[in-house]
Formats: sequence, structure tokens, C-alpha cells
Amino acid sequence: MNSIHIKGNGLLEGEVYVQGSKNAVLPILAATILINGVCIIKNCPEISDVDCMLGLLRSLGCKADRDKEQLVIDTSAISESRLPGELVTCMRSSVMLLGPLLAVCKETTMNYPGGCVIGERPIDIHLQVLGKMGASFILEKDSVKGRAPNLRGTCITLRFPSVGATENGIMAAVLAEGTTVLRNCAKEPEIRQLCDFLNKAGAKIYGVGESELIIEGVKKLNPITYNIEPDRIVAGTYLLSVAATGGNAYIRNAPFEEMTAVIDVTRRLGCEVTRTTGGILVKREGRLMPVPYIETMVHPGFPTDLQSVLIVALAVAEGESIVEESIFSDRFKIVGELNRMGANITVNGNRVYIRGVKQLYGSDVAAADLRGGAALVLAGIMARGDTIVRNCHYIKRGYEDICRDYRMLGACAVGIG
Ligand code: UD1
Repeated sequence: MNSIHIKGNGLLEGEVYVQGSKNAVLPILAATILINGVCIIKNCPEISDVDCMLGLLRSLGCKADRDKEQLVIDTSAISESRLPGELVTCMRSSVMLLGPLLAVCKETTMNYPGGCVIGERPIDIHLQVLGKMGASFILEKDSVKGRAPNLRGTCITLRFPSVGATENGIMAAVLAEGTTVLRNCAKEPEIRQLCDFLNKAGAKIYGVGESELIIEGVKKLNPITYNIEPDRIVAGTYLLSVAATGGNAYIRNAPFEEMTAVIDVTRRLGCEVTRTTGGILVKREGRLMPVPYIETMVHPGFPTDLQSVLIVALAVAEGESIVEESIFSDRFKIVGELNRMGANITVNGNRVYIRGVKQLYGSDVAAADLRGGAALVLAGIMARGDTIVRNCHYIKRGYEDICRDYRMLGACAVGIG
């Protein structure tokens, strides 16, 4: 299935269950190689980025088996430190293996990571952090070779709180000699989950959830079973979708406490949002309000991963909105497609100016990245007439089955071709 056919039909109503978190499971899978033995990872989403990470682990000599949402990873026979180019270039998160491989194999060679094209995605902060701990790198045109005979704890201040570089620093530090202090760390909830996973395995990471982490190196980590928490970005996608279409839905399993900024925006759009013991109720019966200005920010700010979905909602709001993208340099690829569906959106640098229109119209559009793809499916649901969204392999990178989920909310969306 590489295209989705949607019959626009307005309101979303019903109940949808939120899958396990992509951005939590990927670094945790990378971290399993720090542990000699069998780890069991539960509530793992069935998405293609996980398949890619499992392929990378197998290429190193790990055994990796899946039984529905449960993964069994056996790292006891790692025999290779070089990562295969075709898998590394299919997703950005392959860079997450850099720290663990240097810690365990003392060397690695990998191509530059790929992933969604949403602007420049350098890895200088990753290299800076690992370099300060004693790794050295040879940068070639297509690949990076790293060596780290003896990773040592030290004090490192990240020039920007990169999520991936924070995670690489943590993973390199847990088995390093001595104490590492990481300053200006990212505080995304998925980093807290990585630290929980490692601490449960015997690591000594202090300050979890703060921007300064203190990590005392230990000699070894022990195999564990770990449960991945629900995906706040998937939950936010459906929350904002109900805001966009109107209606009434229960987002079962949605992690309310990690979604403060998204919930705040959903309320500003005109929704009632209620926390329940098992999830979030969202309802919009009145007007869809514009958001005069909003900027994407590092956590706990409004996440860049929900920027495209928010733009789709604002495209039909009753007034003008401005959305500024502060994290990635080129994340507005959806705008041309939305304008072809009747939206009135202008891009200027890292801002979009959105004049709300009464109606979007079905069209033939193409996804250019994961979250933008999901946002186009939403636009199709809101539109009058039929929409085809092409290049849906991007969506499968992060959503188990977006058609199934939207159908649970009453939409008419099916995978084709
Ligand atoms: C992670 C998330 C992704 C999310 C992003 C920002 C995962 C698997 N992915 O991606 O969904 O959109 O955080 O919340 O968790 N940068 C550099 N040099 C570096 C590293 C990053 O300049 O060495 C820049 C990037 O180009 C980008 C910004 O820092 O402009 C943020 O990137 P980063 O936080 O590293 O995002 P990822 O870890 O790739």
C-alpha cells in the first residue's frame, strides 16, 4: 500500500487507541547493544522505522524476533561494528547506534544517516559529545569512521539541546570510565524513557528529565523487560484531527502529562479537552478558532512533529494564523499540496501565514515526509470530495495503520496500490 484513498466526510467521532512511541523505542533498541543478553521490549509499534532498526541490529549479529507488539533482542553474539549503508540511509535514527557501538565495539563505520528531508540534519553535536568523551572520527564523503578505545566521563555542554545527540551522549556515558556531566540536554519525554530503561538495567543516570544529567559509568548492564509508553505525537495527531474536523472522540492511552503544549493549542482552537484515567476526551462543537501566532519549540514547547497537522487544522479556522518553525529549516513541504486543495497559505522563511478558508477540496497529493503525510490524510478527511495521498511509505515509518485509526473515528480512508 503506497497510496491512501479518502472520501471526505467531515466530523470525527469514536475511540482510537494510541500505539507505543516511535521516538522512545528507537533509541531503546539501539541501547540494547549495551546489554549483553536477552532484552524483551513490549508495546513496540509495528512501523517501518522499527523494522529498519531491527535490520541494523541483525546486521551486527544480534538476534531480533517480533511477536506482535513484543520484541526479543539477543545481543550476546555481536560480531560486527560496521553498519550496512542501505539500512543506515533509510532513517535518521540509525545515528543512535553510534554511541552504543563505540562503547561496546570501540569502533564503527557508518554512512551518514538518512530519514525525512525536512532541512539540514547535520550530526556535528553527536560527534562533539562523543569526541569530548575520547572518540575520534574520520569524516569521509559518504561515511564516518569512529574509534574509541577508551571512552571517559567528562563535562560536556551541548551547543543545542538535540534529542538524538543527548541520547547518544547518555548511551556512550553509561559504560564509560568515570562520571559524565551532560549540560543543555534535550528534555523530550522519550529521553526520560531511555534513562528509565538504562537505569532499570543497572545504569547510574541522575537528574532524569532535567537539562543537566550526571552519569556514573558502570562496568556492565543487565538484561531486562521494558514496556514502551504511548506515542505522544500519534496521540497529538488525533487530538488535533478532532479539533480540525469537529466532533467528539476518546483518545485512549494518550499521555496527557507529556502533551501540555498540544492540549493548550487544542483548547485555543475551540475544543473541550478532558483528562480521564485512561486517556483524553476531546470535543469541538463550536467554531474552529485561529491561533494568531505559535512557534514550534523543544519540549515542553509545541512539538515540531505536530506542526504540519496543526497547519491543516488552521487552514480552515475562522481567521488568520502564523506558525513559525524553529527546529527544522525546511519543514513546510505540505503547503503546496494544501494550497492545491484550496488552502490559502504563504511561506516566508521559517514562517507560514495561514488565512483560513471555508472548505478544502479533494485532490491528488503526495507526502514528502512522515508527519506531513499524516497531515495530508487529515486534509483529505476534511475536504469535499475524494483525495488520494501518494508516497504513504513515509507515513508507515511512524503510524502503524493510519487508515485503521481514522476509520475508528468514522473516517473513510483505505490503503490502495
Ligand atoms: C528527534 C525526533 C524527531 C523530532 C526531533 C525534534 C527521534 C527518533 N526523532 O529527531 O521526531 O522531530 O527530535 O524534536 O527521536 N542538529 C544539528 N546537529 C546535530 C544534531 C541536530 O545541527 O548534530 C539540529 C537539527 O538539524 C535540527 C535540530 O538540531 O535542526 C533538532 O534536531 P534533533 O533534536 O537532533 O532531532 P533528532 O534527534 O534528529
